[in-house]
Amino acid sequence: MIYLDNAATTLHKPQQVIDAVVHAMQSMGNCSRGTHEGALDAARTVYGARANIAKLFGCERADNVVFTQNSTEALNIAISGIIEAGDHVVSTDLEHNSVLRPLYKLEAERGIRLSFVPADKRGNIDYNEFESLMQPDTRAIVCTHASNLTGNILDIKRIAETAHKHGAIIIVDASQTAGCYPIDMRRMGIDVLCFTGHKGLMGPQGTGGMCIAEGIEIKPFKVGGSGVHSYSKTQPSEYPARLEAGTLNGHGLAGLSAAVGFILETGVEAIHNKESMLMRRFYEGVKDIEGVSVYGDFSCDRAAIVALNISGYDSGAAADELSQAYGIATRPGAHCAPRMHNALGTSDIGAVRFSFSWFNTEQETDMAIYAVREMAR
Ligand code: ALA
Repeated sequence: MIYLDNAATTLHKPQQVIDAVVHAMQSMGNCSRGTHEGALDAARTVYGARANIAKLFGCERADNVVFTQNSTEALNIAISGIIEAGDHVVSTDLEHNSVLRPLYKLEAERGIRLSFVPADKRGNIDYNEFESLMQPDTRAIVCTHASNLTGNILDIKRIAETAHKHGAIIIVDASQTAGCYPIDMRRMGIDVLCFTGHKGLMGPQGTGGMCIAEGIEIKPFKVGGSGVHSYSKTQPSEYPARLEAGTLNGHGLAGLSAAVGFILETGVEAIHNKESMLMRRFYEGVKDIEGVSVYGDFSCDRAAIVALNISGYDSGAAADELSQAYGIATRPGAHCAPRMHNALGTSDIGAVRFSFSWFNTEQETDMAIYAVREMAR
C-alpha cells in the first residue's frame, strides 16, 4: 500500500516508537500511583514525555503539558474550561468539527456567541476580519494552525496579537502541524496549544494533549483519581493533575515520547522540508491534468496536504478506485470540515485528500500522480 492518508493518522512510525510501546507494556505500572519500580518507571516515562513535548513546542513548564486521548479531547477541555456563559468567541471557516462542535455545544448550552472569519474559494482568510469581529467580551479566538482539508496554514502569531490586543486569549488546534511544522508557543503567543499524537508526531493513537501558557486557568472537564490529595473532595488545582483524572495511557505515552525524541533528533525543519518537497512534487504533477481540480493555496508555505477532485468521480468513488486499482490510501468525503467544504464549493462531492509524511518517497508520489492522470483520462 502507498499510504497517503497521513493527515488522518501516520501509519508508518519510527521503530523506536514501536519498541518503546512494547517495552512499556512489559515494564510499566501506574504513573503517580505508588513507589515500586513499575510505578516509578511509568512516572519517569510520562514525565519524560511531558519534558519532550514542552521542548518541542516551547512550553515553559513540563507540568503545563496535560495529556488527553487526542486533540478533540484537548479542545473540548480547553474550550469548555475557559469559555463562560455569555462570552463571545471568534473562530474561522477552516475549522474541523473538533473545534466547531465544542463551540456549537456551548452556544446551545451556555449561550455563547460565535463569529467566524470567512474563507474564500482558495481557503484563505482576510486577517483584518479578526480585528473587525472582536468585541469587548470576546473571550477567545479558537482556530486551527492548518486546514485539514486544504493544508493552508494560518499566521498564528498575527492572530494571537489581535487576540491579546483585545484582552482575549488564543486556543490553537495544531492537529495538522504538530511534529511536522515548527511551533514555538512563546514566540507565536499561543495560550493553549492542542495536539494529537497519532498524526505528524508519529506516535500511537489515543495520545494527545495540550500545552498551557503560564497564567491560563482551565477548569476541569472530568474529575476523579489523581494519585495526590486523595482526601480532598475536589480535583487538585495544580496542572497537570487538574485536568488528568484517571489512569493515563502510559503505554501510548511511552510511544509518544519516543516519537518526539525521534522528531527532536531529526529536526522539525528537516521533516517539514521533506514533506513539503513531496507535496509540491505531487501538486506540480497533477495541477494541470485535464479534469483535475486542486483546492487550496500553493503560493506560500503550507502543510503537506493536496485535496483534489477528478471530473466524473464522486470523491468516495475516486478514493475507492485509488485504493483498489492502485493500492493508494487517501481520504475522501467531508473530512469533518463542513465550513471549509462550503467555502470551497465542494460540499456535494467532497474531495480526495492526499497527505504526505516523513516516510513517503518520491517514487510513491510519482505513482500517485500516475494514478490520478490515468483516472482523469
Ligand atoms: N481529523 C482527521 C482527518 O483530518 C481524522 O482526517
